[in-house]
Amino acid sequence: MLVIVKDNYDQISKEAAQMVADRLRKKPNLVLGLATGSTPLGLYRELIRMHKKEGLDFSKIITFNLDEYVGLLPTHKQSYAYFMNKNLFAHINIPQHSIHIPDGMAHDIDGFCDWYEQEIQRVGGIDLQILGVGANGHVAFNEPGSSLGSRTRVKTLTEDTRKNNARFFKNKDEVPKYALTMGVGTIMDAKELVVLASGSGKAAAIKAAAEGPLTAQCPASVVQLHRKTFVIVDEEAGAKLTGLYPGSWKSSFMLERSRKN
Ligand code: GLP
Repeated sequence: MLVIVKDNYDQISKEAAQMVADRLRKKPNLVLGLATGSTPLGLYRELIRMHKKEGLDFSKIITFNLDEYVGLLPTHKQSYAYFMNKNLFAHINIPQHSIHIPDGMAHDIDGFCDWYEQEIQRVGGIDLQILGVGANGHVAFNEPGSSLGSRTRVKTLTEDTRKNNARFFKNKDEVPKYALTMGVGTIMDAKELVVLASGSGKAAAIKAAAEGPLTAQCPASVVQLHRKTFVIVDEEAGAKLTGLYPGSWKSSFMLERSRKN
């Protein structure tokens, strides 16, 4: 695991975008796992800028989103399908058929979840998975207590998560109670993980994820077991980390060097 502490949100967004762009240039048919929430918005803005100003080409990319609320149509403004279209897909040259988002309206939810897993396998697995963390340590919608080997399935959202996400809805009662989510095991199968976090509200979750005990009570802590995890945080989100993260790792030069070592 490589922890990269940057000065601010803008810098973590640019660092993550650079990582995506590097891999996409090397492998145009990159399989990219995408996250929603406010954290990756800066990353998506930067990818859009790179597409428009630097010609970053998304025509062969394949994407899989982590999760979706159950019961929201893709046209619902709070659905993750709507979010992804508004904040990324509508602004880059990705073909519609290359986009995969769990279908929260599926009639046969279990069948859909199996298909989603098979589809990820069919394209060769996820190369790079972007992750945010919930303040309670969830990844995607794998809430505390989720099996660390879980696959794509329905999860009941905790009251905490519904309260946190209520800011996007008219009120908490409108926040769906269930979501489809890739499992912790699905996420762990990705070849590389990039965990992003910003702000003091995430400091405890990042401490638990990067340095705490490996426990289903903090599903994000499983990234400690992954062979290639990058945790990219700003000073505030990294404030509780006590491990050996020398200030010099703040530069991408050091990141490049540590990759080669
Ligand atoms: C939601 C999503 C997660 C996301 C988390 C944090 O619950 N399902 O994938 O990481 O929120 O969101 P934010 O980035 O807005 O703090």
